[in-house]
Amino acid sequence: MILLAVETSCDETGAAVVRDGRVLSNIVSSQIRLHADYGGVVPELATREHLRNWMPVTETALRTANVRPADLSAVAATQGPGLPNALMVGFKAAQGLAFALGRPFIGVHHHEAHLYSPWVSGDPPAADFSSFQPSVSLIVSGGHTLLVHVRAELDHQVLGATLDDAAGECFDKVAKLIGLPYPGGPEMDRLAAEGNPIAYAFPRPLLREANDDFSFAGLKTSVRYFLQKNPGLLDRAQTLRDLCASVQAAIVEILVTKTLRAARRIGVGCVTASGGVTCNRALRKELAAGCEREGFILRLTERPLCTDNAAMIGILAERKLLQSIAPTPLDTEVEPGWVLAR
Ligand code: KG4
Ligand code: ZN
Repeated sequence: MILLAVETSCDETGAAVVRDGRVLSNIVSSQIRLHADYGGVVPELATREHLRNWMPVTETALRTANVRPADLSAVAATQGPGLPNALMVGFKAAQGLAFALGRPFIGVHHHEAHLYSPWVSGDPPAADFSSFQPSVSLIVSGGHTLLVHVRAELDHQVLGATLDDAAGECFDKVAKLIGLPYPGGPEMDRLAAEGNPIAYAFPRPLLREANDDFSFAGLKTSVRYFLQKNPGLLDRAQTLRDLCASVQAAIVEILVTKTLRAARRIGVGCVTASGGVTCNRALRKELAAGCEREGFILRLTERPLCTDNAAMIGILAERKLLQSIAPTPLDTEVEPGWVLAR
């Protein structure tokens, strides 16, 4: 089976070709530089960039994979959640292509695609669902923070979610407060590596609550108040690094503690993590240490597949077709507010 997948939910235009679980090409055109001047994603600009980039990115994905449109068995695209107009670009273009080729079309949930990306690995990447295990899975991105119980392949239930800001959003907003360029997550990671994580004590909201939900807005606010009281702190390179390390330590402790607690309670043997924030080195290290200590198998999505990409959309779409899940009708619309079922 050969699939073309398209991803345009936010600020990355992605196209990928997947054949029998193997990623033949995975092209991502990032808009980070375009939005950096504004300190965040500007939806109208993102949409225009997707319109401009969809065709060349798709052509490159097909050419790299050495696949012609006529070779495709199916076409897939992200249906939601995401920015409405941005989603529409890739979704409608992919539907049009499926219609012209007379092939099935599959609309994919963006978080569900992140959810199964820990089972894709190697270079070139390939899906390995033969080693699949029931797991508790953390999805941490710029838009969402979710804890999910994955009972079996394509059988999952959301345990908890963020009540306000997502973990990536917290990284990005704190980074903005301290004057780092957008997106702040990778920059915080870099500075935190040379900082002291116990230099400043920041709150760990909901850490001790007996639920699987998260809240990061209070943490961001406490950093703002802390900076108002200590304005000189940003002027010295080392105190800036210590601040980054201390904020990162708070975010990571919350994510790791709640994930491991849920895994213990539910009794699964495996923990997985995906989404852009899974690139974070401290999160990867602490999840590895915690899983080692408590005897969980850990599957972290490999770095290149953590941030938004179309390969994860194609892999999931293929699994759905293999499990005889019905294709998405060609008159279906995007679902910008689509939530994974609790
Ligand atoms: O999954 P993703 O590419 O897009 C969404 O679906 O939101 O995640 C992007 C998020 C951004 O908030 C970015 O700052 C964060 O992932 N991120 C990181 C790191 N790399 C990306 N956060 C912390 N440390 C990193 N190394
Ligand atoms: Zn994402």
